[in-house]
Amino acid sequence: MARDDGYLSARESRRISKENRKITAKLEKTRTRRNVPESEYMTEMKNPANAVEFENLHTFFFTDAGTVKSVDSVSFEVPLGKTVGVVGESGCGKSVTSLSLMQLLQRPQGQVVEGSIRLNTGDKVYEITKTPENVMQHLRGNFMSMIFQEPMTSLNPVFRIGDQMDEVTMLHKKSEYPTKEAVKGRTIELLKMVGIANSEGIYNMYPHELSGGMRQRVMIAMALACSPKLIIADEPTTALDVTIQAQILDLLRGLKDKINSSIMLITHDLGVIAEMADYVVVMYSGRVVEAGTAKEIFSSPAHPYTIGLMASKPVVGKHQDKLYSIPGKVPNPINMPNYCYFRDRCDKREGCCDGAYPGEIWLSETHRVSCYRYDEAHMGSGQSKA
Ligand SMILES: Nc1ncnc2c1ncn2[C@@H]1O[C@H](COP(=O)(O)OP(=O)(O)OP(=O)(O)O)[C@@H](O)[C@H]1O
Ligand code: SF4
Ligand SMILES: [Mg+2]
Repeated sequence: MARDDGYLSARESRRISKENRKITAKLEKTRTRRNVPESEYMTEMKNPANAVEFENLHTFFFTDAGTVKSVDSVSFEVPLGKTVGVVGESGCGKSVTSLSLMQLLQRPQGQVVEGSIRLNTGDKVYEITKTPENVMQHLRGNFMSMIFQEPMTSLNPVFRIGDQMDEVTMLHKKSEYPTKEAVKGRTIELLKMVGIANSEGIYNMYPHELSGGMRQRVMIAMALACSPKLIIADEPTTALDVTIQAQILDLLRGLKDKINSSIMLITHDLGVIAEMADYVVVMYSGRVVEAGTAKEIFSSPAHPYTIGLMASKPVVGKHQDKLYSIPGKVPNPINMPNYCYFRDRCDKREGCCDGAYPGEIWLSETHRVSCYRYDEAHMGSGQSKA
């Protein structure tokens, strides 16, 4: 067990590493099986109006310092044709949730250890946690695409932009673009679509010759190449200036309307969420602490963390000497406490907050929160639940 100060002896670290190898080898054995029958990874949606359903998802990293519970029992849905915004502090598990859906976790240390991710492609429903890699390759790109957080690490530095983009079309749209010229034409068209003026020139350049914003637009063009029904956008506009940001958001919205795509939008930017999202999921330390329609989350945020988040965003026309910041820091992901993860930073905590992690309370049919403040059985009692 790691000490509170995070110190680990070499012996302890070796022991953890040995244990990890045992766990991950077992999990890898099931992941790398060949000829998995379709019946093992076909399933049904709980609600056919959803594009994705995450249910009780646990994704852990088995590191030499201990097990990082990056995603710890996360459940939410992305309805068909809707945009779901996922917000939360850095390190709360947003990217790991989306990488679990794409099956792009850094393995073998990163593993989905429990729970379900159901993906609705229209004619079939896949249980992603059991879907073999060869099937995933077909789903990624054709059906769902991800716009990554870091364009420089996602583009291959040794290939020209044009070659990398052509490859996507050749791999997934060969029948529509059978010749080399047709493929190039499609790439140029995509580059123009994301607002790159000198598309012929960019076609022949290497990633390092482009600015951060241009690289991000290339990434977006690649992700949209196959008109995916599900777009996972991880901080898609962070590297862009506001005018380009607005164009990219318009582009995503346009695509959503044109082919009724669903979007999972991960961002720190509450302004982007307010503009784009139909539903909002608020994560904190690997868990969903609040979820609801965008209107519910913006007009009546319930969880003290969400309330703090809303208070920390600047408002045009309102004079503030200093923006609000939530005091304290997130708990160590290797040694999570067994009480509310937000307790040590919460200015609304009461005696009952020392008890077990709070359960979920439904405030409306769509609005849920994990906080004792809304649990009538506990609030005001000063009693511990544990
Ligand atoms: N490859 C990895 N190995 C070990 N731990 C990892 C790995 N990738 C992510 N983690 C851990 O998982 C947790 C969640 O990370 P994640 O990248 O999902 O955060 P995030 O919410 O996307 O943050 P940000 O807003 O900074 O992008 C963090 O504690 C991180 O340290
Ligand atoms: S359960 Fe208690 S400590 Fe946790 S967020 Fe709610 S009020 Fe704060
Ligand atoms: Mg991230």
